[in-house]
Amino acid sequence: MSNQPAILGNAPIFDRKVNIVRPQLPSMDEMQEGVRSIIETGMVTKGKFLREFEEAIAAHLGVNHAVALSSCTTGLMLSYQGLGLTGDVVVPSFTFMASVSSLVWAGLRPVFADVDAGTTNLSPEAAEAAITPNTSAIVAVHNFGNPAEIEALQAVADRHGLKLIFDSAHGFGALYRGVPVGKQGDAHSFSLSPTKLLIAGEGGIVSTNNDALADHLRKGREYGNDGNYDSAFAGINARMPEFNALLGLKSLQGLEGAAQRRNATVAIYRREMGKLPGIEFQRVHPEDRNSYREFSILLDADAFGVSRDHLAQALTAENIDTRKYYDPPVHRQTAYRHFAPDESVLPNTVLLAENSLSFPLWSNMEEETALGICEAVTRIHQHAEDVTKALNQARNASAV
Ligand SMILES: Cc1ncc(COP(=O)(O)O)c(C=O)c1O
Repeated sequence: MSNQPAILGNAPIFDRKVNIVRPQLPSMDEMQEGVRSIIETGMVTKGKFLREFEEAIAAHLGVNHAVALSSCTTGLMLSYQGLGLTGDVVVPSFTFMASVSSLVWAGLRPVFADVDAGTTNLSPEAAEAAITPNTSAIVAVHNFGNPAEIEALQAVADRHGLKLIFDSAHGFGALYRGVPVGKQGDAHSFSLSPTKLLIAGEGGIVSTNNDALADHLRKGREYGNDGNYDSAFAGINARMPEFNALLGLKSLQGLEGAAQRRNATVAIYRREMGKLPGIEFQRVHPEDRNSYREFSILLDADAFGVSRDHLAQALTAENIDTRKYYDPPVHRQTAYRHFAPDESVLPNTVLLAENSLSFPLWSNMEEETALGICEAVTRIHQHAEDVTKALNQARNASAV
């Protein structure tokens, strides 16, 4: 009985729910002085913390410009507009919906290309094959924090005269060939929402060496108005308030530690889950560092003995939260189905969407939590047949 999984009647491994993320925020002590100065000066927006935050990020990434915005999504929308994209844009479907919604908001047509099943990132070969006579850009994602194949994608973009933009929502803390993700291609848009390593509460930041784009972003986040009340173009309100910039500034001080600790936790996950059959991990280039904004596995149900959906259900019984990212992938979602190509060109997208599972991970996760989660997965595998039978019976009973 003792090593039976909870789904078969044993007590759950965790007596309280282990959430998928736990945002790591600066302490009250670290925030106090800045919060006081915001309140006392009344400068709640467009103040010194915004400037300091942007300067600190530009220095950290080694770029000429870092422009803070209300979100990664508005950063992407304004970047597409500022770079003058038209027509078709190649983008993965195995990504979060905002990679694609931002394109549609900018009046562009997403052309979905497949990802590599190992890295889970946009395949440069598939991206090249998806180029049409109307293509103006490629948008790549550092999926789950794993740096994209930047060099190969840049070569494709150069061959076809295309812009290369990175949806770097998961990218802070990731290193590409030893340097921070953020200075390559035409622009990167990072997300600073609470599930990320670098947190501003909500917010985004675009890094670029393109002066004209930076200027466009600064005007664009102010309705397209540079202050003379004569809009240069149709912008939006995409400003980052001072409290958020202050939070981001303080969070930046903990970034390196956060990335290192996440990698250490993932090493435990990989070591322990790697002992079980049917579990594959994201392939990371040996000279890169994944930020591990997310830890996700690819499950071979036949080898592991339990399907992805049953594993998730059995883990819920152990009080372990999981996510099926990205199921459904973007091209299967209601708003984007009419852009979908024949699914035969997206085999890895479909494979990953139907068989991936993301596990709890946060920047200061305790070793025993990671070990407990691995123990839960191990127990479920060891009782694979009974788990599958019990969950099938439960499903059939609820269907009657
Ligand atoms: C890949 C990807 N792109 C874009 C976004 C949107 O970020 P934001 O919520 O900051 O707009 C997210 C959100 O997590 C994401 O995962």
